[in-house]
Amino acid sequence: MSNFGFEDATYKAVGGYDGLGKLVDDFYTAMETLPEAKHIRDMHPKDLEVTKDKLVYFLSGWMGGPRIYPEKYGRGLSLPMAHQHLKITAEDAKAWLMCMQAALDNADYPQNLKDYLMDQLAFPANRINEVSQKAHGHTD
Ligand code: HEM
Repeated sequence: MSNFGFEDATYKAVGGYDGLGKLVDDFYTAMETLPEAKHIRDMHPKDLEVTKDKLVYFLSGWMGGPRIYPEKYGRGLSLPMAHQHLKITAEDAKAWLMCMQAALDNADYPQNLKDYLMDQLAFPANRINEVSQKAHGHTD
């Protein structure tokens, strides 16, 4: 039995700040490599340094670890609002999750942690798609 989701168990299991840094690096490497992800890579700024840093800082709090995103970036973040300027389809959400799966495949984590993270990340990914559909009036 795992207790992921309880207090900072998930944050600790991914290896804390350093583990998250590696995961996010591998995530964006996958995004730059996988042909299925080219479309979402191209939505990002050319230089990924700040986006990577923001994702590490955001995921720290999201995984029950230190809430360092608002400390560094001045305010908390609503994921749907942060993506509202983008047209994000269900296929884009799938491509995002595929990059995360590739990063996790590359990580030395127990399988139940990988499964847990994929399950949990599907919620915000789908929510971001739904909010984009409403904001931009698309149905895909
Ligand atoms: C559903 C598919 C997704 C796509 C296509 C996507 C795409 C993007 C893009 C293009 C940016 C850069 C925006 C810009 O610089 O203008 C961004 C930023 C960001 N994304 Fe996503 N994203 C997705 C899902 C997620 C998920 C599931 C999370 C978290 C669990 C996430 C967390 C973030 C964070 C924290 C930022 C930085 C936002 C900020 O500080 O303004 N994204 N995303």
